Amino acid sequence: LPRTRVRDALSSHARPGACLVKGWVRTVRAGKNVAFLAVNDGSCLDSLQAVVDSSLQNYPEIRKIGTGACIAVRGELVPSPAQGQAMELQVQQLEILGEADPQYPLQKKRHSFEYLRSIAHLRVRSNTFGAVFRMRSALSFAVHQFFRERGFLYVHTPIITANDCEGAGEMFRVTTLDPQAPPLNNGRIDWSQDFFGERTGLTVSGQLQGESFATAFSDIYTFGPTFRAENSNTSRHAAEFWMIEPEMAFADLTENCRVAADFLRYLCQFSLEECADDLKFFDARIEKGLIDKLENLADAEFATLSYTDAVKELQACGEQFEFPVEWGCDLQSEHERFLTEKIVDGPLFVTDYPRQIKAFYMRSNDDGKTVAAMDCLVPRVGEIIGGSQREERHDVLVQRMIEAGIAPESLGWFLDLRRWGSCPHAGFGLGFERFLMYVTGMSNIRDVIPFPRTTGNAAF
Ligand code: 4AD
Ligand code: MG
Repeated sequence: LPRTRVRDALSSHARPGACLVKGWVRTVRAGKNVAFLAVNDGSCLDSLQAVVDSSLQNYPEIRKIGTGACIAVRGELVPSPAQGQAMELQVQQLEILGEADPQYPLQKKRHSFEYLRSIAHLRVRSNTFGAVFRMRSALSFAVHQFFRERGFLYVHTPIITANDCEGAGEMFRVTTLDPQAPPLNNGRIDWSQDFFGERTGLTVSGQLQGESFATAFSDIYTFGPTFRAENSNTSRHAAEFWMIEPEMAFADLTENCRVAADFLRYLCQFSLEECADDLKFFDARIEKGLIDKLENLADAEFATLSYTDAVKELQACGEQFEFPVEWGCDLQSEHERFLTEKIVDGPLFVTDYPRQIKAFYMRSNDDGKTVAAMDCLVPRVGEIIGGSQREERHDVLVQRMIEAGIAPESLGWFLDLRRWGSCPHAGFGLGFERFLMYVTGMSNIRDVIPFPRTTGNAAF
């Protein structure tokens, strides 16, 4: 008999009949004559009720099954007389595959997310994290589907690289040098002795290599892990996170925003269609009104505000911010939230930031002060997308690198893209976890990534 997933056993198409289910026990109610076990296999939020009669020869052991045990049950799937479930399983045979003692930490009760983080290897067996990681998986497919439907090439950019794309000095170093060995070269580390012969680290973004591919394949995207040694202990920064980075030849900033908005609408629509049960759970338990919010967003026009106008709005609003706003400062999360929650009440593109606060590769605007940048901000989470039109003019780019303290020789290959066949192009990066926070209503980035990496946390 092939194994049936709980999702199929509980679906409205399920037919009564013989059935084998394997999964983990969520709850047990066992009496002298009959036992009820809720079995979950991760395929859906709900568990299948297995009804066990005391006539089974191993009933004494079954009565002692603990929450968390792994079992295989064989029997008849029948319409359930109980409320709230279509079908149940009348068990004819029950095999205990893996017992669980009473110390099992996920006993049936509400646990705080903080506590659940300390058992990240087990929290995936809970309702909330089941829903989170089913959505994370489904939306990963949606990402690929969106770009595939539009003819984008998927490229795997390197994890180890010598390039600090964002230039923020947040790279984790990768080295084979012996930390015990005395530094050579007058007290400076001699990177020529290192495995790669130069200073390397874990990538902070696949964009630079993505630009190389865009000048061959026109439209490309990356989707992979990125790493930042950001020392900020916030609910929206992780040291390891996944980023989706499209790069499009012949696109300008307007086109870039248009694709970004289409992409976000597509992902919302996909969630509503493919993750309806999990969304209902989040709507009821995590963020009231979540489904309405996503339905609105799925066909929303996105507001756009230049950085200069955003600063004016913030200065004029009369709100007391912890960080006062003046032209030239980076927008803090309190400003981002004010703009999206109080001024536009929805997602917002902020464009044309001052050049000093943005990365070297962004295209300089004619005003000489700003660059063709765009960030997409959403209520509650703040920035979920950062992007720009790229500087395609060789000499202007060299000038920007020097200004930013980057030796042009160190990125000779990147400048080559402006020497041979340069073209206007643009792209953006969507932080996958930030987006997941937005669609699930979860409020901490640590709760939308399987095994979060933040300062001081690399267990599991
Ligand atoms: O704004 P960022 O730094 O932009 C880039 O990396 C560009 N190279 C992207 C591009 O144009 N191809 O990062 C992009 C997004 C942010 O908007 C945010 O959603 C996410 O990545 N992000 C983080 N997510 C979690 N933890 C962190 N420490 C993050 N840093 C950035
Ligand atoms: Mg950014």
